[in-house]
Amino acid sequence: MSDRRQFITGAGLAAFSGLGAIGALYAAKRTWDPLPSVKAGGFTTIDISQAQENVLNTEMWRGKPIFVLKRPKSAKPNDRDIVVGKDRYMIVVGLCTHLGCIPAYYPDETKFKCACHGGEFDSAGMVLKSPPPTPLLIPPFKIDGTKMVLGEEGPEYKKLKADGLIG
Ligand code: FES
Repeated sequence: MSDRRQFITGAGLAAFSGLGAIGALYAAKRTWDPLPSVKAGGFTTIDISQAQENVLNTEMWRGKPIFVLKRPKSAKPNDRDIVVGKDRYMIVVGLCTHLGCIPAYYPDETKFKCACHGGEFDSAGMVLKSPPPTPLLIPPFKIDGTKMVLGEEGPEYKKLKADGLIG
């Protein structure tokens, strides 16, 4: 009987510890995921109203990192800028167009650097230094007020596509 009680107590403790670990992971995830987002039906909706200038936000969409950057006011405007209100954004797939490594953003230099072979991109995703052959790719998106819906082709995306600017 006491063995059974010990087993039950042990199982309860293990379950409780498991819950604690999940809670810790959830708390950590929240700090990695600064912009509120909702995933449903293959679409990810990101609320960009709290985005800070020159701070890179990374969202996962269909297994790929998506970079959302409120471009610094000092940065030269680019035809690929996505204008929401008075702000200009870069939305790109965060994979280097050379061989697919994930570039890191250096806010002080307002550029991305790829550690694999030294490629660089500016804050609009344009190539600054080869070997990347093309700019960072713009994923399908739609603007809905201060929200960005990843996976849906809105008029802004269709225009960039028609102009040959998505990648
Ligand atoms: S994969 Fe980025 S420079 Fe080669």
